[in-house]
Amino acid sequence: MAVYLDHNASTPLHPEVLDAMLPFLQAAHGNASSLHRSGRFLRSAIEQARAQVAELVNARPEQVMFTSGGSEANNTAIKGFLSSSANFLSSPIEHASLLGPLAQAQQSGSTVDWLEINEHGVVDLAAARSRMDSLQPDFFSLQLANNETGAIQPVGELARLAHQVSLKTCLVHSDATQAIGKIEVDFEQLDVDLMTLSGHKFGGPQAAGALIIKQTQVPVPLISGGHQEAGRRAGTENTALLAGLGKAAELARINLLERQSYLLELRRLFERQLSQIEGVQIFSEAVERLPNTSFFALPFYHGETLLMQLDQAGFECASGSACQSGVTTPSHVLSAMGIADELALNAVRVSFGMENTAEQVEQLIETLKHLINQLPAAMRRVAC
Ligand SMILES: Cc1ncc(COP(=O)(O)O)c(C=O)c1O
Repeated sequence: MAVYLDHNASTPLHPEVLDAMLPFLQAAHGNASSLHRSGRFLRSAIEQARAQVAELVNARPEQVMFTSGGSEANNTAIKGFLSSSANFLSSPIEHASLLGPLAQAQQSGSTVDWLEINEHGVVDLAAARSRMDSLQPDFFSLQLANNETGAIQPVGELARLAHQVSLKTCLVHSDATQAIGKIEVDFEQLDVDLMTLSGHKFGGPQAAGALIIKQTQVPVPLISGGHQEAGRRAGTENTALLAGLGKAAELARINLLERQSYLLELRRLFERQLSQIEGVQIFSEAVERLPNTSFFALPFYHGETLLMQLDQAGFECASGSACQSGVTTPSHVLSAMGIADELALNAVRVSFGMENTAEQVEQLIETLKHLINQLPAAMRRVAC
């Protein structure tokens, strides 16, 4: 059985989440919009899930709009609230599902400006403050944690600033997809207006997520023609998926500190030994990161080659972000950090989960050393 080390791409479904979903796949039937008993049963399960998600992030249930995951929530945040002449400010290290709609907004007449990222993969605060002042954006979007490096961004600080400096109303959005379940996330405290989350990143089912919306205003729906989600998203709800998302949210609130320290211990063990390999670079090592994420490059080993060889040896990792797999351009995150293409193309990401063990980390290190030793000596020398 392969050792799965790609939890930032997707986490295994938690067994209790499966248990929460099964009744809706096996026995329950009907439509949550129907007024009869079966419909009401589904409705109450959906509303329970909404309350569970709200509680996880310290929001109110009516602020939770369910979506098909992080990508839809990000698209709704960008496309659902603004006219075509808006002025957006964001970061170049956002996920593709945020960069895509921003590019579309630009094509339809909006302006999009970008924050500077420092060499550690974090927004440069001083530069961000002055940009915020001079640009006075209508919409500011910054991820809470990066999916590749795990670097945590100063969202709260910049959200407050965006609300203060702007003479107009500035909507603030944060993509918290990677942060939820790994670090404490508090919608109120962050002072954002919109926040994205996705269930399959914290033990829930794939294709279930939410956009948390502070204001009572309704986004222009991406899917119209139905009253579901308070008119914000039409279509019959998938009760099983939402019940699973709700259960995952409930579980994510439990033992967060214990989970963080377990994951951190695995990463420290891994990086302590990894850093003994000559020439290795661990990205964002010097800043606060998600506890489970390690993104590194060996100067003499192409990332996708290493990835395939690790896969053959029974270790499932990622090169760059999983959404870019198969594309051999360097990671846009590493490029924004000023990492040279030759090194960026060698990047491999290991993202741990709760089922991983110290023994697996030791085996991974042994495998890495073995693979490196198999390289022709000249190749290793050239790079070191
Ligand atoms: C930061 C971030 N945002 C959004 C998404 C998209 O989420 P989903 O897979 O639920 O569409 C991902 C997925 O990798 C992500 O890492």
